[in-house]
Amino acid sequence: MKIPIFTDDPGWHGARLKEAFANHGIDAVFVSLQDCIINLYGSKPNSASPTIQIPHFDTLPPAVFVRGISGGTMQQVTTRLNVLHILSMLNVKIYNDVKAIERTVDKAMTSFLLQKNGVSTPATWVSESRTQVEQLRQIAKQQNQTLVLKPLFGSQGLGVRKLLADQVLPVPMQQFVDGVYYFQQLIETANAPHDYRVFVIAGKVVAAMKRVGSSWVNNVAAGGRCESVNLDANQTLISLALQAAAAVDINYCGVDIIQANTGEYFVLEVNSIPAWKGLQSVAQVDISALLVNDFLKNVRLDIQ
Ligand SMILES: Nc1ncnc2c1ncn2[C@@H]1O[C@H](COP(=O)(O)OP(=O)(O)O)[C@@H](O)[C@H]1O
Ligand SMILES: [Mg+2]
Repeated sequence: MKIPIFTDDPGWHGARLKEAFANHGIDAVFVSLQDCIINLYGSKPNSASPTIQIPHFDTLPPAVFVRGISGGTMQQVTTRLNVLHILSMLNVKIYNDVKAIERTVDKAMTSFLLQKNGVSTPATWVSESRTQVEQLRQIAKQQNQTLVLKPLFGSQGLGVRKLLADQVLPVPMQQFVDGVYYFQQLIETANAPHDYRVFVIAGKVVAAMKRVGSSWVNNVAAGGRCESVNLDANQTLISLALQAAAAVDINYCGVDIIQANTGEYFVLEVNSIPAWKGLQSVAQVDISALLVNDFLKNVRLDIQ
């Protein structure tokens, strides 16, 4: 049995997943989404059955593991997502589900779903209009609120910055703005800046860590230090992470949670293609093995 792992950069995560699949006798093969073909002519001449041709696969696999979708032009990203949507319509299980990936890759949709489902998250605004953003920024200033500006499709803390009222607002087409201003209330933490990453698989929290940043952007990729957390002593982290995963309806995810100096907790975002190398260094469980176990539970391998 062979399963594709969609990624352009297998790295540590690819190697761990490949090992975990091998422990179940499954050969995981790294495939780049951009090497697939949406073949609407058919798998055989004149068969007229549209299919997706995946390199190294003669027939459609029962499921695919999505470990990465590269950025690109709008047409490239739409095509990569279409490959996943069409596979899904052809009864190939996509893990995480492509609709859940779309919901969470977009920080505005995630914030909306969190808010709508009553999950505590910072006050957030999204607009393309520089004039509107300018007005909101002045209101925030009057209320002594600091704002944080983030790329809508960002990750790893890249481009996350304060939107200070006396600095020039970035122009719409500037890098990391891309024509859309997504900004929210800054949550001040007590002591050194920190937040939490909580990993949820199938409605259960399997691991969590505290990330202590060298600046207030605490991503591991931005130099955040990983510390273990005692989850038994922090039921709020568990319940918030589970609520967040349920709000976006996803198989597994990495939930970012921050605690304000008032004690209140807020969900910052939900990651549908999270990294777990840093988390694994302080976790008690084998995250890659748990992911593969859950993947296999979701797939009827007997249909192959
Ligand atoms: N509203 C906020 N208040 C305080 N810190 C924040 C806020 N939003 C983000 N951060 C900091 O920036 C980091 C990156 O933000 P996040 O929303 O998780 O985006 P990314 O997708 O880049 O990880 C967070 O882990 C946190 O340390
Ligand atoms: Mg994050």
